[in-house]
Amino acid sequence: MTQPHILMCPPDFYGIEYEINAWMHRERPSDRAVAREQWLALQSLLIEAGARVSTMAPVAGLPDLVFTANAALIYRDRAILAHFRHPERQGEEALDEQWLAAGGFRVEQPPEGCFFEGAGDALFCGDTLFAGYRLRSDARGHQQIGARLGRRVIPLELVDPYYYHLDTCFCPLAPGQAIYYPAAFDQYAEAVLKELVPELIEVSRNEAQRFACNAVVVGRAVVTNTGCPELHRALAARGFQPRETPLDEFVKSGGSAKCLTLRLDGEDAASWRGEPAGVDAA
Ligand code: ARG
Repeated sequence: MTQPHILMCPPDFYGIEYEINAWMHRERPSDRAVAREQWLALQSLLIEAGARVSTMAPVAGLPDLVFTANAALIYRDRAILAHFRHPERQGEEALDEQWLAAGGFRVEQPPEGCFFEGAGDALFCGDTLFAGYRLRSDARGHQQIGARLGRRVIPLELVDPYYYHLDTCFCPLAPGQAIYYPAAFDQYAEAVLKELVPELIEVSRNEAQRFACNAVVVGRAVVTNTGCPELHRALAARGFQPRETPLDEFVKSGGSAKCLTLRLDGEDAASWRGEPAGVDAA
């Protein structure tokens, strides 16, 4: 198994400069020094867990560039770029494209005329792509991406503005196993999840608000924000090694551990990781 490889972007120009989700309030600014400390601690924890971390250069005027999860959806050596719903973040698209192309990925444009926010809204669990839509990404785009990759797509409607990206309320751990916050999904999406993911670990409202679902899985280590003791107990009971690190400065922007990372070699739970290259179904 190759070493997990994660993309991050230092928070030099991070801040709450606009309000594009329910968490962000310009009158609740982020402390740049504390944000830097928290970001560095997350990076160290991921390295300790066995990951290699690459970084992209931060850019003034793009405070949300730190949330690399949204840059693209990675599938083998392909990177399907994001097209952000909010103009405030669209300036990130060209930079993500440059970095991923230089990093050796075959970079692809998102489906024409659709909003698509990368791994923030599209997560593999086993061989299925679970895809959040309505608040940020479009359902139609997800279907087109599934067709392109030759993978089954399960669109999940997100109904709570606080859980606007799929990775704020759903986290695949392994094929057939995931963390989720039920109230973030419409009834149909919740039923589909229950049917397709046999082992769902349910997160309480309190811990969902601490971004418990926004976890980074590196082997058996699962890294979250602080304040998720119930989830950590549930993970430990299943043989995982839960780790916490404070990320409150990023919660002010509606993000936490997972949002600050992009898995360049594919999520641990994606079954295609184990397949030899070049066997694209399609
Ligand atoms: N402020 C950012 C936004 O609203 C936060 C993005 C969090 N990213 C994520 N993958 N959930 O777009």
